[in-house]
Amino acid sequence: SIPDDLPAGEAGAAPRAANAELIASEVARRRTFGIISHPDAGKTTLTEKLLLFSGAIQLAGTVKARKSGRHATSDWMEIEKQRGISVASSVMQFEYRDHVINLLDTPGHQDFSEDTYRVLTAVDSALMVIDAAKGVEAQTIKLLNVCRMRNTPIVTFMNKMDRETRDPLELLDEVESVLDIQCAPITWPIGMGKSFRGVYHLLRDEIMLFTPGSERADQTFEVIQGLDNPRLVEMFPQEIDQLKMEVELVHGASHPFDLDAFLAGRQTPVFFGSAINNFGVREILNALLDWAQPPRERDATVRSVQPTELPFSGFVFKIQANMDPAHRDRIAFLRVCSGRFERGMKIKHLRLNRDIKVSSVVTFMASSREQVEQAYAGDIIGLPNHGNMQIGDSFSEGEMLQFTGIPYFAPDFFRSVRIKNPLKIKQLHKGLQQLGEEGAVQVFKPVNSSDLILGAVGVLQFEVVASRLMNEYGVDAVFEGTSISSARWVSCEDKKMLADFEKSSAGHHLAHDAAGNLAYLATSGVNLKLTQERWPKITFHATREHS
Ligand code: G4P
Repeated sequence: SIPDDLPAGEAGAAPRAANAELIASEVARRRTFGIISHPDAGKTTLTEKLLLFSGAIQLAGTVKARKSGRHATSDWMEIEKQRGISVASSVMQFEYRDHVINLLDTPGHQDFSEDTYRVLTAVDSALMVIDAAKGVEAQTIKLLNVCRMRNTPIVTFMNKMDRETRDPLELLDEVESVLDIQCAPITWPIGMGKSFRGVYHLLRDEIMLFTPGSERADQTFEVIQGLDNPRLVEMFPQEIDQLKMEVELVHGASHPFDLDAFLAGRQTPVFFGSAINNFGVREILNALLDWAQPPRERDATVRSVQPTELPFSGFVFKIQANMDPAHRDRIAFLRVCSGRFERGMKIKHLRLNRDIKVSSVVTFMASSREQVEQAYAGDIIGLPNHGNMQIGDSFSEGEMLQFTGIPYFAPDFFRSVRIKNPLKIKQLHKGLQQLGEEGAVQVFKPVNSSDLILGAVGVLQFEVVASRLMNEYGVDAVFEGTSISSARWVSCEDKKMLADFEKSSAGHHLAHDAAGNLAYLATSGVNLKLTQERWPKITFHATREHS
């Protein structure tokens, strides 16, 4: 049902219907996906080739150059450079085949997985890149598990076939057993490494011949129709019998592609190729357009929201500072869930129950910041954030719609913070508050002391925070080990019970996080277990959603 509280001036049946039609067609042509992979599998390279197809960039090397250009511009990014990892994740929008594609980059390093997890709450499908020489790696497993929480459809790309790789059948087996998802091979490799000849398309019965080279988007590969084509015997007298045998085996042993199983996140179509040679990349982009869904409905606390509803709504899934050192600002990334966003419109920040007028909004069109004029469900817009937006915040044209499913994860590592210069205490608090809101680290204030405790899902986060405190807030902080081993957010329906809990000896372990939620900081697994046993009516949460 479409609520009828349209802005004044637009009331009236005819413009309303036209509006609804426009929104429906804009939603239908959108695809929003993230790329997941273990570091070095080829995510950056692949991203660049995808942008190349769209005409968003003209020449290969642009994204890489941007990646390294960014390193030079801010000191804390030095950490990223040193470790060769991508700390920041970003958004790129481009058009291809009359579709609008929103590509969300996810940091691959495990220490930033919390940020990555939340990015995955904002996508409708995912592209999994696997280094075919290495197979399924640790970070891929974690990320895939996050996708599975929301049954996100996944397309798989087996990359680097121009190198010596593992046996393709073995790779499929590994994906099926380790990631617990059915594989439906769509293309099949002919050879590998120096003798990589191309791929056979199992659905189209054609062979695409491999030639190295990657610079241009319009590069086309020669296609030979039919496995029985006599030209194949001429060209590949050595390989043809082996290929026929393999194809027969694959047809017999693997699952045929099933669109419903893919959309339910139970089956992944698998493509083989080489990102650096731009080979097999167009096929995965087409698969995402043809098979993956446009933006779907989203759950909010009061009801679910259809992407085609007229009023605008969306949620913040990520906050990032210093995207562009020239601007020195913080940007809240908002996923549009319904309606149309227009620059200059007034929207309601629901947690604060406050109207804001958004006049400068950014999106990231492949390589530069541009003003967004309008955005639809599936699009990501960047709102300038002066410190009052938090991850999980929802926005609408007035209806109280708190979107759900944007998690914070209980940290596994803890540090207490000390500063060298006590006069800087205010800056320290401000810095940690802001970094906490960004999700760079979690900040806990124990109720019984003036200490500050930091929590992270990976220890590298502490280094980033220390470096950013120094560079952005002028605070020289020292992080020290603590006796804390885990944290759980606590809640209880019975307010009196909660008050008793707070007053008991367990209360000494309580702290507030940056958003003011109560958390129990346990000194050991045994300590946590005993407390839980002693207070059965108190719930201990390993994740929390928006407060
Ligand atoms: P990431 O973002 O997932 O971390 O991976 P990235 O694209 O940076 O690729 C990691 C390395 O793998 C890069 O090499 C890249 O050139 C290489 N690579 C990506 N795709 C292919 C492919 O299809 N075949 C081969 N052979 N290599 C590929 P590097 O030496 O680390 O960086 P660079 O010096 O080439 O930039």
